[in-house]
Amino acid sequence: MKKLTMALLACGAFGFVAAPAMAQQAEGERYKPNNELIQVIEAHKVENQAEVELGKKLWFDNRLSRSGFISCNSCHNLMLGGADHLVSSVGDYWAQGPINSPTVLNSSLNFVQFWDGRAKDLREQAGGPIENPLEMGSTHDLAVSVLKTIPGYVEEFKAVYGVDEITIEEVTSALAAFEETLVTPNSRFDQWLSGKDDAISDQELNGYLLFKNSGCVACHNGPNLGGNSFQRMGLVEPYVTDNEAAGRAGVTGQDVDRMNFKVPTLRNVELTYPYFHDGAARTLTEAVDIMGRLQLGKKFTDEENADIVAFLKTLTGDQPEFTIPVLHPNSDETPIGQPWAPQEAEKNS
Ligand code: HEC
Ligand code: HEC
Repeated sequence: MKKLTMALLACGAFGFVAAPAMAQQAEGERYKPNNELIQVIEAHKVENQAEVELGKKLWFDNRLSRSGFISCNSCHNLMLGGADHLVSSVGDYWAQGPINSPTVLNSSLNFVQFWDGRAKDLREQAGGPIENPLEMGSTHDLAVSVLKTIPGYVEEFKAVYGVDEITIEEVTSALAAFEETLVTPNSRFDQWLSGKDDAISDQELNGYLLFKNSGCVACHNGPNLGGNSFQRMGLVEPYVTDNEAAGRAGVTGQDVDRMNFKVPTLRNVELTYPYFHDGAARTLTEAVDIMGRLQLGKKFTDEENADIVAFLKTLTGDQPEFTIPVLHPNSDETPIGQPWAPQEAEKNS
């Protein structure tokens, strides 16, 4: 009863409910967005719907893999926040992937692709997994030769790109066009940024102010809260891991770039566990604790940690929604995948 009265009083006086100290400014006003370092993401405007539809089919098509069993969606499952919820992905012939699968949601907003930034954009990236022996285990030639046997694809590529012969260029363009639609606008945090004061709770606002004022935002900023710089994992205290990924050093060959990774987006982070390039942090609580200590030399109290986690959960946006595509059927010439034949056996036969 007493609490209610106080809340009502506060409402009457200032037009808002009493907030914990941090979420208030000096005069007792609830903190409002003021040139924040994080920006809202806009819904994607599709330029060529036919190209997106083709890319969507390819995205879900297992026939791009040697086994006929793995599609892009296997490891970037759009029902699971665009990731796979595994420490590292399962690839061709049960291969254990070397690194955690990042979400594809909002990946079009990243300045480069992959943890080490070795692909400059989505078009360059999309060819990688098809021919990676630990992922889809095929080759571009093989994947394209399979598509060429499927009359529905031959027609659709011709309609979209005006080509008689499918090449890997059109395949990666279509995939990228589809991936560009996978943005997640309208998160509660974006609503708050756009002026809807009550879109986030006091606890969530507190968490945001901790995130901002402790310095998380120095690396996790911009519309994607990341994806715009390489930063060292283990800045204040070294990060201990069995994972062999060298980070950016794998691209530059420079020792100073060891353990430098593209800062991952925190959009939809509630959905994309486990965390870090080695998938070692199972929960957000763990990830926030490690980030605080290793990147900022700051040990958060349980309450502070819970507030930051609550804030991070406001970053979940509208998930992509679409009709599941029906894939073009095989022709009599289309090979059937070989999930049980190891790659080596196939090469020797
Ligand atoms: C076997 C699992 C697997 C499959 C299949 C797979 N990926 Fe990935 N994907 C990964 C992993 C793991 C990474 C991170 C690799 C790295 O950074 O070294 C990744 C990275 C990416 C990225 C970069 C995201 C970022 O933020 O850097 C994009 C985009 C992507 N994949 C799209 C695709 C597309 C398109 C396909 C289908 C053609 C595909 N993936 C198939 C596991 C997979
Ligand atoms: C110096 C730059 C820097 C600072 C400061 C920083 N981070 Fe990070 N953050 C990173 C990098 C780099 C990674 C990826 C590390 C890896 O995977 O090995 C990361 C990863 C994360 C992840 C896991 C995301 C995923 O999908 O795997 C979360 C959650 C996170 N940071 C939250 C925070 C929070 C909360 C703070 C403040 C307490 C913070 N970060 C401060 C650079 C930073």
